[in-house]
Amino acid sequence: MPSLHHHHDAVDLRSDTVTRPTPQMLEAMACAPLGDDGLDGDPTVRALEETAAQRFGKAAGLFVASGTMGNLVAVLAHGRMPGEVLAEAGSHLLNAERAAAGLTGMHYRSLPGDGGLIALPALEAALDTSASARCPSALVAVENTHNARGGSVAAPESLAALHALAARHGVPVHTDGARLFNAAVALGLSCREIAAHTDSVTVCLSKGLSAPVGSVLMGPADFITRARGIRRMLGGTMRQAGVIAAAGLVALEHMVDRLAEDHARARRLHQGLRAIHPAWCAAELPQTNIVQVRVGTSAADARLWEARLAEAGVLVRTGSAGLLRLVTHRHIDDKAVDSTLQAFTRLHHDN
Ligand SMILES: Cc1ncc(COP(=O)(O)O)c(C=O)c1O
Repeated sequence: MPSLHHHHDAVDLRSDTVTRPTPQMLEAMACAPLGDDGLDGDPTVRALEETAAQRFGKAAGLFVASGTMGNLVAVLAHGRMPGEVLAEAGSHLLNAERAAAGLTGMHYRSLPGDGGLIALPALEAALDTSASARCPSALVAVENTHNARGGSVAAPESLAALHALAARHGVPVHTDGARLFNAAVALGLSCREIAAHTDSVTVCLSKGLSAPVGSVLMGPADFITRARGIRRMLGGTMRQAGVIAAAGLVALEHMVDRLAEDHARARRLHQGLRAIHPAWCAAELPQTNIVQVRVGTSAADARLWEARLAEAGVLVRTGSAGLLRLVTHRHIDDKAVDSTLQAFTRLHHDN
């Protein structure tokens, strides 16, 4: 059995992607029925794709290596040439993944946001599918929850309005739902209810849900058929991928509801930090599992805090200028929250 432990002593708040597979996942991986996903199919991968699609109310699903690959395949499968992908300025797609524009040949356009979604007036002004368009709109991108906005959750009414606007122009909506399960748990809604407002959606199994690898792209049957061909072209056909898909099935079936614990600990962390130094955190509580701490005004300030916290055994990441990003997950228990608050208290007094 692989070792389930690393960073034994550190409190690792860098990301929910550090979560290790559960014993139940490892057992499922060892016992999974396997086939060749590039020939006649891997039964465990198929089960994962069907289970996920059903859960999200979409016709079909496609297992992909990562969230980034899911978004890339989605852009290509929705895409048209020439064509423009419209995304909110702070989105992962436009920032962390913007080099994909060079791979897709599509133009990625940044639009101003309102609550993490593209502001509707800006979208209305940008959408153009007319014959005279300089670069016809091909896709509208949504991110839910929104990573750079501290795991904020999109209001379903706003998603519905954005989807309706895009649909009036005949442009599909793709949702980067890397943490869509967190949004569903925070709202007390089903994934299906949220995904009703998007044509396609990528979800990550390897973040808060603790699976070691993998994401699922979901959407209409013809879209997924195109996506499957594109995935092959990208080298993403993974043969006996049931070994990892098995962990993804356990993630879908058993690991969603517990995200509420991560959200509660993020709120406790946020409140504890505000009690130490009110200027560190905004008044609003985090909606999901990401806490943003404003420790200064520059990236250098935040990196200094990051280094000092690491010495104290608390691993965090520097976000945008002056911001630290702390992400709660299955390996962050109440004791880890306490020791994080203690480390912040000590460093605050040393300052
Ligand atoms: C919002 C969002 N989208 C996409 C990704 C990319 O996922 P992956 O690391 O699986 O490629 C991430 C990862 O952090 C993310 O936060």
